[in-house]
Amino acid sequence: AAVCAVAVLVVRRRMQSSGKWGRVLAILKAFEEDCATPISKLRQVADAMTVEMHAGLASDGGSKLKMLISYVDNLPSGDEKGLFYALDLGGTNFRVMRVLLGGKQERVVKQEFEEVSIPPHLMTGGSDELFNFIAEALAKFVATECEDFHLPEGRQRELGFTFSFPVKQTSLSSGSLIKWTKGFSIEEAVGQDVVGALNKALERVGLDMRIAALVNDTVGTLAGGRYYNPDVVAAVILGTGTNAAYVERATAIPKWHGLLPKSGEMVINMEWGNFRSSHLPLTEFDHTLDFESLNPGEQILEKIISGMYLGEILRRVLLKMAEDAAFFGDTVPSKLRIPFIIRTPHMSAMHNDTSPDLKIVGSKIKDILEVPTTSLKMRKVVISLCNIIATRGARLSAAGIYGILKKLGRDTTKDEEVQKSVIAMDGGLFEHYTQFSECMESSLKELLGDEASGSVEVTHSNDGSGIGAALLAASHSLYLEDS
Ligand code: GLC
Repeated sequence: AAVCAVAVLVVRRRMQSSGKWGRVLAILKAFEEDCATPISKLRQVADAMTVEMHAGLASDGGSKLKMLISYVDNLPSGDEKGLFYALDLGGTNFRVMRVLLGGKQERVVKQEFEEVSIPPHLMTGGSDELFNFIAEALAKFVATECEDFHLPEGRQRELGFTFSFPVKQTSLSSGSLIKWTKGFSIEEAVGQDVVGALNKALERVGLDMRIAALVNDTVGTLAGGRYYNPDVVAAVILGTGTNAAYVERATAIPKWHGLLPKSGEMVINMEWGNFRSSHLPLTEFDHTLDFESLNPGEQILEKIISGMYLGEILRRVLLKMAEDAAFFGDTVPSKLRIPFIIRTPHMSAMHNDTSPDLKIVGSKIKDILEVPTTSLKMRKVVISLCNIIATRGARLSAAGIYGILKKLGRDTTKDEEVQKSVIAMDGGLFEHYTQFSECMESSLKELLGDEASGSVEVTHSNDGSGIGAALLAASHSLYLEDS
């Protein structure tokens, strides 16, 4: 916390506390206090998280944490072989990929992918339109497959489908959508069989492909992470949305009534974005953001941590400063009234500005809000806001990870035995917002203490969810005996 809070103090000391600046300062200070995440609060959040994990595992609907059963009871071994496709839907971009797996020695022999951004109108339109768009992109991509990827004669192509929304699975390759999150909202698809919808679209475009696995991005990332590192026990996505999955003992899942898996384990998709607790530091800006969102009352943790929302929180605070403290002068910049106009990558670029006159902040404000000039003082306030918002998100994600480690009994070192725990991370926020990821990692260390933090490692599992879905398709292939 000490590292992350410096900028705010500097600004405060240099500002006079009267007139316009007095009011700006007062808003800044109140916001900083409302967002505070002292270590004691993080511990409360982590404890509340473990309590909810137990409740969610006990029964469906037992908690805000859905603790969804993924039907993944066997993580990749390295033996997977052959050509597999993966499709990744759920962020701002949608991705198609193919990978040639070569078994333990060769691992990923070759991979290719294509990224397509989803036209925003498809996120809130009809189900068929969205699935058609995906199927068409996949068909185009399949058409570019070259001989190097070699599909044995007569063999149907198989696909791992990463669908990054809460799904009630009925098997590894089937499940229905519980609700949309992030920017998606297609009413008719809720409750629908996701694989059925994709299959129909594949038929419509004449693509012959078998969907061998339906997985959440966290589950894909866990599988992809485990493929390279046997110590991976959990995966966390910090991207457009946020969520975590981890490996649970099957006997610790009272709501699981199926056969006990041979491995004794089951991957759980926590859907932690929906976590909420009286311990969460929520501000007036979070309440109005939530109220005006596509999913009011839901995904509260996600709305204060993830990439979809951080820039929007910044916009809301700046708007208040503009309206109540004439931050931008006598008039409120009209662009500032447009929801989501400040994106998290903009915020990250400003936060990362180390030039003495904060040039980047000035130019971003100019480009996005059409405010031609800003004083250094104003830019410093913007940096402070970025810092407060990112610090809260980063520290709360650390608390979530710490909660999982506690649930697994991996938050302390046991006697001499050093049990390594690796968390596979992915998502744009983690990958590109340096201050965020650094603050998350240092806060996790702070929570674990010196001794235990030596046995916990956070790694970036680059595009793990795509590879992971392909790997899970491979280990559930119809052609296992031929490969
Ligand atoms: C949202 C989705 C969840 C996904 C996460 C990260 O929270 O509900 O399923 O894993 O975003 O993409």
